[in-house]
Amino acid sequence: MPLDEETRLVRKGAPPKGGSVLARTVNPPVQRGSTVLMPNAASLYDDSQLTYGITGLSSPANLQLALAELEGSPDVTLYPSGLAAITGVMLALLKAGDEILVVDSAYRPTRRFCDRVLARFGVATTYYDPALSPDALMALCTPRTRLILLEAPGSLTFEMQDVPAIAAAANARGVLTMIDNTWAAGFYFKPLAHGVTISVQALTKYVGGHSDVFMGSAATADNVIGNQLGDAMWDIGWSVSPDDAYTVLRGLRTLATRLPAHQAKGLEIARWLQLRPEVARVLHPALETDPGHALWKRDFTGACGLFGVVLKPASQKAVHAFLDALDLFGLGFSWGGYESLAIHCDPQLKNRTVPVNLEGPLLRLHVGLENTADLIADLERGFAALNA
Ligand SMILES: Cc1ncc(COP(=O)(O)O)c(C=O)c1O
Repeated sequence: MPLDEETRLVRKGAPPKGGSVLARTVNPPVQRGSTVLMPNAASLYDDSQLTYGITGLSSPANLQLALAELEGSPDVTLYPSGLAAITGVMLALLKAGDEILVVDSAYRPTRRFCDRVLARFGVATTYYDPALSPDALMALCTPRTRLILLEAPGSLTFEMQDVPAIAAAANARGVLTMIDNTWAAGFYFKPLAHGVTISVQALTKYVGGHSDVFMGSAATADNVIGNQLGDAMWDIGWSVSPDDAYTVLRGLRTLATRLPAHQAKGLEIARWLQLRPEVARVLHPALETDPGHALWKRDFTGACGLFGVVLKPASQKAVHAFLDALDLFGLGFSWGGYESLAIHCDPQLKNRTVPVNLEGPLLRLHVGLENTADLIADLERGFAALNA
């Protein structure tokens, strides 16, 4: 009997049973789906098969493969944002009674999660000075210490850490290490090759690269930990959208071409700023004058376009006038896109445990892919307003 129009409208255009009608395009298809149709009744409960669209569809699966290549890991777990990657790893691995050591220069929302959520679940956080030697840091460990969180360079103040030495000492003691590797974008620093247990990054920044998507990733070479991270995604019910995974994968294709441009332009602007009379110091580990330069040179193969600028003492009004006079540098937080950005940082520094003593107000610049002469002209406008 011919099918009724009602049924035909519901069914026409669906992929045929047992095959795909897709042409072989350069990029993987954006496969959107919650339901995955199984070939027979026996496969419905076969754990070795993909049975549910929350994970494993084409674009996220292909992104995971490409990121595993970037990180040098067997697999990568995807999260709906960079912050979700940090918090997701912690939720997967920590339990009540554990203690963690978190670098004081960590991305501020990481700290908020530790203070507001982990504390509620009975996990205690100690913030440590990024300048601590690996030995001094290990001396803070107690029998309950489960995880050390590193970030190098640190958020806003750009301190470097001796990552391999900390990872080696923590491994010897059975303590997990996790690094927020967003600054190096998984490209200029390879945490797993330096002994770190888990490398996390906000793909939202340089990997996405166009300021139009949120995502995060966690990579580990430890299969047991990797399975725990994957299981937690199922347990919590998080997933990433196939459209977003497609967008991030497209960004990843040009990461190795974009980052050297951010590095070169960023360093040119940083060196120009070092000569400005209004500037006390530029916080950028690739500058020879930076206290973290030796560690950066030893462990990293490059730098991105994000760095700090400490001004000589100036009023808040003058700092606001500087920022408000900028035209090409947008005033916004989420860096790593193609465009230049600026923020002032002092309100965020108040949350640190170890007081930050700088000569004057702190700015953070993200140097995008614009022409550097145009960006310098923009900063000159800012300094004119600051001095007015
Ligand atoms: C160092 C660092 N880590 C993580 C994140 C969080 O990324 P997302 O915005 O995707 O949550 C950010 C965002 O600014 C960041 O700067």
